[in-house]
Amino acid sequence: MSDSKNKPFLPPSSKLVPTYAARGLELDIPKNEMPEHSMLPSVAYQVIHDELRLDGYSMLNLATFVTTWMEDEAQKLINETLDKNMVDRDEYPQTAQLEQRCIRIVADLWNAPDHENAVGTSTIGSSEACMLGGMGMKWRWRNRRKAEGKPFDKPNLIMGANVQVCWHKFCRYWDIEPREVPCEGNRFTLNAEEAVKHIDENTIGVVAIMGSTYDGRYEPVEEIAKALDAHEEKTGIDVPIHVDGASGGFVAPFLQPEIKWDFRLPRVKSINASGHKYGLVYPGVGWVIFRDKDALPEDLVFHVKYLGGDMLDLSINFSRPGNRVVAQYYNFLRLGREGYRRIHESSRNVALSLSKMIGELEPFDLITDGSDIPVFCWTMNDDYAKTANFSLFDLADKLRERGWLVPAYPMPQNRSDLVVQRIVVKEDFSMDVAGMLFEDIKRAIEYFESHPENKPTFRTGNQFHH
Ligand SMILES: Cc1ncc(COP(=O)(O)O)c(C=O)c1O
Repeated sequence: MSDSKNKPFLPPSSKLVPTYAARGLELDIPKNEMPEHSMLPSVAYQVIHDELRLDGYSMLNLATFVTTWMEDEAQKLINETLDKNMVDRDEYPQTAQLEQRCIRIVADLWNAPDHENAVGTSTIGSSEACMLGGMGMKWRWRNRRKAEGKPFDKPNLIMGANVQVCWHKFCRYWDIEPREVPCEGNRFTLNAEEAVKHIDENTIGVVAIMGSTYDGRYEPVEEIAKALDAHEEKTGIDVPIHVDGASGGFVAPFLQPEIKWDFRLPRVKSINASGHKYGLVYPGVGWVIFRDKDALPEDLVFHVKYLGGDMLDLSINFSRPGNRVVAQYYNFLRLGREGYRRIHESSRNVALSLSKMIGELEPFDLITDGSDIPVFCWTMNDDYAKTANFSLFDLADKLRERGWLVPAYPMPQNRSDLVVQRIVVKEDFSMDVAGMLFEDIKRAIEYFESHPENKPTFRTGNQFHH
């Protein structure tokens, strides 16, 4: 005992690292194996804290759709509930209650026919929520085909080539043929005409996106629904819609309540959104809501014990943090519809002003202006590009020198010749900060123009993941 007491807490080291970790560290730390000995919590904290300082600064991260700022009170609740596992509904019945309230609130926002008895769940994000909505489509189609005594081994799903990567994963993991509608000219999203062209009796559904990841545009859900109605009348093939409202699901109800994209359209059977995007919660929460009980096949549902009773369990993950659901409920309660409208209106104003200013700069043409979700992108105009000595990739690199993360990437299939640059406006990106970014964009252009020896660089391959 005395032996171990007398041992130095940290083993001697051949290497002295004087200031890293606030002078508390005098040894090499293995990076890929667990260290043999313990270290003081303050030292471990400092090592990690210092390393993380090399990350980008989240306020300047205009690439991410994910919330980068929450109020102190929300953070306090998040900290107080860090230990809550969402799946322990019997043990944490009040957290489960808050989840149920959120499900009903979201179903109401999306005009579900009976939001008091809403059918849905919280998830870890939209990817899991899309997976569940997609499984709903596959299971419903398969059950119908089985009942009709028809083959059910070749399902397909119709979507625009602009879908987020989670839909590629869904198709690959569940053995579904993705029928991706490519871009055409200046059409970068799915439209009604193209959706209908790809239907056959093996189509499990159509994915329509409210807020394309590439350019922020809403897809015309109502038009697609009408075209599918007409197609059903002609052919008898009933094709449901899943709306991927990862971003727009928490924008459209506040900014464009007149657009019919949700359960007001009977053909829409399920909708997902990310609580951690325009739901204004830190990363780790999403939502999927089904139109009603009929839209959710019984064999996808598990049941968990809850206060001695029974509760629907629909999820891919078992354990996940309950505190993000608590934070979502905090936002609903704290902000109300008026608060969400005010915050998103302000982000939209920033997006519209900044996009206008960028669009007026000589080198650029706007693709979208941020009037759907507050996300917009631009490209280099053809005339300027003929003699330009920089590309949008170079501009992204130059802006990064000042800390701004403004990604450049090619548009999807069939228009991958078109490189764009995108800004996601979030609550913590004020008009003031937008003005500073604009000055830096102008400065970057001036830099390139005053360095004629510079050559534009182009990148192929998929460096930027949507
Ligand atoms: C349209 C769309 N769908 C799905 C996702 C995936 O969302 P999450 O990151 O919440 O899993 C995203 C993310 O950007 C998205 O934009």
